[in-house]
Amino acid sequence: MTAVLEVEGLRKRFRGTLFRRSVEALKGVDFCVRRGDIFGLLGPNGAGKSTAMYCFLGLLRPTAGSVRLNGERPEIGSALFEKVAYLPEEPHYPLYLTVEEALRYYASLYDTPIPPHRLEAALEEVGMAKWRKMRLTKCSKGMKQKLGIAASLINDPEVLFLDEPTRGLDPVIVKEFRDILLKRNRRGTTVILNSHVLSEVEMICNRVAILNKGEVILDGELEEILRVGSNCYEIRCSPFTDPPPSFTVLQKTETEWKGELPAGEIEEFIHTLTARGGTLFECRFRKRTLEEVFVERVREGEEKTEENAVLGTSAGAPFASGTVDEGEEPAVGGSNEEERG
Ligand SMILES: Nc1ncnc2c1ncn2[C@@H]1O[C@H](COP(=O)(O)OP(=O)(O)OP(=O)(O)O)[C@@H](O)[C@H]1O
Ligand SMILES: [Mg+2]
Repeated sequence: MTAVLEVEGLRKRFRGTLFRRSVEALKGVDFCVRRGDIFGLLGPNGAGKSTAMYCFLGLLRPTAGSVRLNGERPEIGSALFEKVAYLPEEPHYPLYLTVEEALRYYASLYDTPIPPHRLEAALEEVGMAKWRKMRLTKCSKGMKQKLGIAASLINDPEVLFLDEPTRGLDPVIVKEFRDILLKRNRRGTTVILNSHVLSEVEMICNRVAILNKGEVILDGELEEILRVGSNCYEIRCSPFTDPPPSFTVLQKTETEWKGELPAGEIEEFIHTLTARGGTLFECRFRKRTLEEVFVERVREGEEKTEENAVLGTSAGAPFASGTVDEGEEPAVGGSNEEERG
């Protein structure tokens, strides 16, 4: 499958000041997003997710490494962005405009004219058509976020970048938003999203990467990630005499037991169950939740950093102030500065 986003050795260091240490927000990030993916970029606060997204979009110049978006280096103003959309983490809206004026304004930023029916469809899709005349100063946080989502759909994007898209949305619109993303994805849009809402990521993403302190600590197919490390079956069966001690019954009714069994015991369990006249209703491998995997991996990272600190090795240690910065922080919105590294 073709790569939509290829990231290799991506590093971003923000220069320190007299009063602030320099920060290495990304420390050599590698991964690849394929066409058709719904890719979740996860990580704790400050992990580097938004910085990474700015680099993917050419809004920040990397200190080192390379980013290829649809095979090209992303540059502001490039024709590449006619079919790419981005919903920032904290969008700043032109508050003096109405909902529909704002949408028309965003549409005007594309070189390719966007037909009015697309704006209409986007407003309908996020349930904002009835609020089209409302001035943004009067819109709630969630309404503005819906407008942001609508704005990210108007160019019918091939690649959609979303930074914390469900912030401030109520559960009903979160569900509708999920459906919108899945529908767009079925129609061919590749989605790359930053999120803290792991349950949501688990529901829609097929691939994820976890960033921690600027490094990718886990990357792969979600299904695979949730299977690894689990070694247990969830069983539903009828009650039977002398269940083996390895079978932990968690719920009992007169007609049904629900329980867990270590993976290695499954064949013997089924043999015993049927020999004793029991019936197996359901048996499935217990996947881990993304939250379990996430917390475990991030904690492992913390422990490693602490070990390194005790041993006095440099891995994981922050940059001391006064180190030579390898990259500048360009203004978001364009810089003429030459790339280094
Ligand atoms: N313009 C900047 N100047 C200096 N440091 C910055 C700048 N932008 C981000 N950082 C630092 O880079 C690191 C990564 O920040 P980033 O915003 O990318 O994290 P994040 O994973 O998006 O966090 P969150 O989940 O809270 O949104 C943090 O330590 C942050 O303080
Ligand atoms: Mg962020």
